[in-house]
Amino acid sequence: MRTPLIAGNWKMNGRRGDAEALARAVEVKVAALSGVEICVCPPFVHLQAVQSVLSGEHVALGAQNCADAGPGARTGEIAAEMLLDYGVSHVILGHSERRAHYGETDEVIAARYQEAQNAGLIPILCVGETLAEREADQTEAIVGGQIRGVTERLEGTGLGNGVIAYEPVWAIGTGRTATADQAEHMHAFIREQLAMLEGHANASARRILYGGSMKPANAGELLAQPDVDGGLIGGASLDADDFVAICAAAQ
Ligand code: G3P
Repeated sequence: MRTPLIAGNWKMNGRRGDAEALARAVEVKVAALSGVEICVCPPFVHLQAVQSVLSGEHVALGAQNCADAGPGARTGEIAAEMLLDYGVSHVILGHSERRAHYGETDEVIAARYQEAQNAGLIPILCVGETLAEREADQTEAIVGGQIRGVTERLEGTGLGNGVIAYEPVWAIGTGRTATADQAEHMHAFIREQLAMLEGHANASARRILYGGSMKPANAGELLAQPDVDGGLIGGASLDADDFVAICAAAQ
């Protein structure tokens, strides 16, 4: 049985004060929920403030990236171990926005994943195809390549306790959500790929989240799919009521 995880990716949003207010509102509203793991991922600059308002009982704290090396000559980066100082337990890696805007490759993402794993963080590895790739019938080739491109570069325990997030790029921020059938098809495909890479037991236990315009109105149908184990939520995570409604749908 895989416990569902709902993670809110706040992306590059929120000024000083906004983050604490949003985190406080989420913390209060989810206290009555059970059977679902909840995480919020603010920008780096808000981690300390958000940590200060979370009790640690109901909502975990995540980051949106971590460095591909340990502390040292990496100007502008944040080392995975530094995140531990602020109570961070999860870290989003390989988001399509990092790939598209900052040229992150499977190799760089694998190095970031390795650093996160070595620090004891729970990586949330993002994969997903663009609309052009889907329309060219390349979805499985692209997503399978992203999964293998990172997994095959990892040492030791491989994906370890990491989580996969399938985020069709064409659904991110567009309001054009994948259908439940589209999501289930790709989640089942990802699980098959994982079984070939890490064995059936690990693949069966690994959580695969859906991301891409998941909203309160469609969360129930998506989360009811057998291989959808939660969501990675962007826009809807910036509204406490909407985010908590999605968390409630995952129970
Ligand atoms: O990482 C989650 C994000 O990419 C999804 O964004 O706004 O479509 O929920 P959104």
